[in-house]
Amino acid sequence: MDSMAEINAPWVDPEEPHFPENHPGLADVDYMRRRRMFFYLARDHRLRGLPSPQIAYVPQETHLWREISERLDALHVQTAAAIYREGKRALGLSSERVPQLGELERILLARSGVRLVPAEGLLHGKTYFELWGDRIMPCTQFLRHDDQPEYTPEPDVIHDVIGHVPPLMDPEYASLIELIGQAARRATPDQLEELVRFYWFTIEFGLLEEAGEVRVLGAGILSSIGETEHYLSGDARIVDFALDHVLATAFDTTELQPTLFCAPSLQAIMDAADELFARWN
Ligand SMILES: [Fe+2]
Repeated sequence: MDSMAEINAPWVDPEEPHFPENHPGLADVDYMRRRRMFFYLARDHRLRGLPSPQIAYVPQETHLWREISERLDALHVQTAAAIYREGKRALGLSSERVPQLGELERILLARSGVRLVPAEGLLHGKTYFELWGDRIMPCTQFLRHDDQPEYTPEPDVIHDVIGHVPPLMDPEYASLIELIGQAARRATPDQLEELVRFYWFTIEFGLLEEAGEVRVLGAGILSSIGETEHYLSGDARIVDFALDHVLATAFDTTELQPTLFCAPSLQAIMDAADELFARWN
């Protein structure tokens, strides 16, 4: 999600891929050809409601997945919330190979009723959240460019599968995304801005208190070596989760996050979501 302007832009998911000027793969003809292939394949499957395509990952992609996921595995032991670690274990996520969305979806469906749809890239906020309303998580399948393994200007399979999928194994967490998605359907543009801040500081960058310790829930940290190291450095200010404070806090997707909110429990986040959406009525 690039900015609030984008959230409130006309609700259109482009038919052609667009890449920011700072995309590390722009000069790599082979990478961009494959990136475009992923775009059209995922968009076609998503719009036609087809099952996620099976991807034959090339050795370079598998190598990149292995390199990053091994480093994240080690960090997760130290930082991740219990529902994340349990979900990741039960899914059997392995650093050996990039998992197929279909195989993850079979496990998710049985556990928490969540489905996965392929995403061509960054979707419009409305499209993204509205899918959540049906307990569907859009997931990209391509990998970032390996010139900058720790950086990607767009969500990729490392962000989506390593960051977002594991906690979806938890039925309560799955209900949270469904609640957010259903609220998005009736949100005015101003309410959508509130919803995006709520999502940002919970689903993407949320922290949870567990047995007196701070643990990470957010996909934006758990899928990023840089964000995790930033969090571990103590440079990010950690404040108690409070709905009005979250709603009053702006964020910049292009910077390391200076402020993180720590909730006492997942239930406290659910309760705050209920309160926010009740205020809208
Ligand atoms: Fe994300």
